[in-house]
Amino acid sequence: MEHANTTPHIIRLTDISKSFVDGDKQLPVLNQLTLALKQGDTVALTGASGSGKSTLLNIIAGFEYPSQGELQLIGQSTKNWQDKQWSQFRHQQLGMVFQQFNLLTPLNVRDNIRFSLQLNRQKWNDWCDHLVDALGLASLLNREVESLSGGQQQRVAIARALAHQPALLLADEPTGNLDYNASLEVMSLLTSLAKAQQTCVLMVTHSEECAQYMQQRWHLENGAINADYSINHLSQTKGDINHGGQA
Ligand SMILES: Nc1ncnc2c1ncn2[C@@H]1O[C@H](COP(=O)(O)OP(=O)(O)OP(=O)(O)O)[C@@H](O)[C@H]1O
Ligand SMILES: [Mg+2]
Repeated sequence: MEHANTTPHIIRLTDISKSFVDGDKQLPVLNQLTLALKQGDTVALTGASGSGKSTLLNIIAGFEYPSQGELQLIGQSTKNWQDKQWSQFRHQQLGMVFQQFNLLTPLNVRDNIRFSLQLNRQKWNDWCDHLVDALGLASLLNREVESLSGGQQQRVAIARALAHQPALLLADEPTGNLDYNASLEVMSLLTSLAKAQQTCVLMVTHSEECAQYMQQRWHLENGAINADYSINHLSQTKGDINHGGQA
């Protein structure tokens, strides 16, 4: 840790740029993006389709590498991280809800959730029971995930991401397949978790109702974060919303 007397950032991106190669052209997606989040910070991230929201989450998770810039996670620079450090970070600190769920399809619901625990040598515990109840999965534990509806699969993906009580949750439209009531239940679960365990949550959402559960609102536009977008939600934040640019 860099500063013993300050809370380390869970995520800190400095001047991150990312381009993809599209035939013989470069497709710029992120453009000198700067942001920082600490323990307990919760953010709703919006942005047009194709603006780079999933790319940003994938960079933070180490599934994509930035073309330029500095990425720090849990107070450490990732510059020299090898596969081992990335795996440790993902297994121990990160919970991720993918836009396409990415469930383990030959397995049932229980084993999908258990997977996150096994990576950390943890056993099924009371928290897992709580998650399963809160997400309405109790009667589905023995079902193969392939046989579930989109909304049911999404709830399994959320349970799997939270089973090992990660320090950071990256969630890509985690309520996109849920009905209104189920969405609000998921949001209340996430906010109570963030409060109780100081989990840092960065969540892509297009739902105004869901975004309101988060302390901060960020908008991804022209490859960078517009934190002023959250101006209407200032009263709900803890103050320092302008992490982008100031971090
Ligand atoms: N692996 C890749 N190779 C080439 N181009 C990519 C790759 N991944 C993403 N892109 C492009 O980068 C841009 C941003 O994609 P991204 O998936 O991050 O957008 P998004 O904001 O998550 O969109 P949506 O709201 O539709 O999910 C898009 O133009 C996409 O086509
Ligand atoms: Mg996306």
